[in-house]
Amino acid sequence: MTDLETTARALVAEGRGILAADESDGTIKKRFDSIGVESSDETRRAYRDMLFTTEGAEEFVSGVILFDETIRQSSADGTPFPELLDSKGIIPGIKVDKGAKPLALAPGETITEGLDGLRGRLEEYRGLGARFAKWRATYSIADDKPSEYCVWTNAHALARYAALCQESGLVPIVEPEVLMDGTHTLEASAKATGRVLQAVYVELHDQRVDFRGTLLKPNMVLSGYDGSDRAGVEEVADATLDVLYRHVPAAVPGIVFLSGGQTDEDATAHLNAMNARGPHPWQLSFSYGRALQAPALKAWAGKPENVEAAQRAYYHRAKMNGAARTGVYASEMEREAVPA
Ligand code: 13P
Repeated sequence: MTDLETTARALVAEGRGILAADESDGTIKKRFDSIGVESSDETRRAYRDMLFTTEGAEEFVSGVILFDETIRQSSADGTPFPELLDSKGIIPGIKVDKGAKPLALAPGETITEGLDGLRGRLEEYRGLGARFAKWRATYSIADDKPSEYCVWTNAHALARYAALCQESGLVPIVEPEVLMDGTHTLEASAKATGRVLQAVYVELHDQRVDFRGTLLKPNMVLSGYDGSDRAGVEEVADATLDVLYRHVPAAVPGIVFLSGGQTDEDATAHLNAMNARGPHPWQLSFSYGRALQAPALKAWAGKPENVEAAQRAYYHRAKMNGAARTGVYASEMEREAVPA
């Protein structure tokens, strides 16, 4: 087994998944605005420190995705974050894209930037302790969207990123996110997600990426958030699995879903329902941002005296998602295990 495959498999080890703590400055400011906390390098550091020093979270968390600023920051005792995570058996990773920007001549669609100079940045991040990376492309659903133009330009960029990562010894997490905003049906979501994944795997193959040393980070197939009569947990699990079985090669070791604005309990229930239908050719796991952090962020509210309560909230969500990895989660566990 190559080192890349070993790392990819470790990231989807049984009962564990990934914490996405790689919010860009703009995104973390939005999160902090929601709790009335100013976003400064120190508040961002303190917030991430709270998450990363949570005792016992490593039982359920295999890796953490960091942002450029965060990978250079340290815990309160001066230990650099990548070293702190490593010491707990959590693999440090890094977001390397530079964000989704308007796609030229395609109103309302985006292309993710960040390829120029990427080889040098990957080398630096590896030196800072990163063992895997993430690149996110986004697609909207509407009558004429996603366009073939948007699907293929983003697939091409994702594959260029993935090839550069493998050359640098980093496992690429390939994240094509079909956004669930809007009133679209479950069927429209399935169609767009399948189209996007098909193009991604054509480009990854053509650009010589070894699927065994990659992870896929897709959206789940949901009804649009503003739609009426939205699909329930079982329907979502069936529709998502159907698309994955059609379009994701069995050589991919793991699929680590994003939460994409679902409530934290929905994200857990959906993952659980899919794993309850297993075994599958790939591990089905999580790489959640909001769905792992939301209750902790709220409990923290920027106050040092709340750190313990916030850590309990984060630990609880990690534990629930750890249970969903093997299909043994039940909503009663939310109440039983709710931290004091
Ligand atoms: P969410 O789980 O909040 O969608 O974030 C995951 C992520 O990393 C998005 O790029």
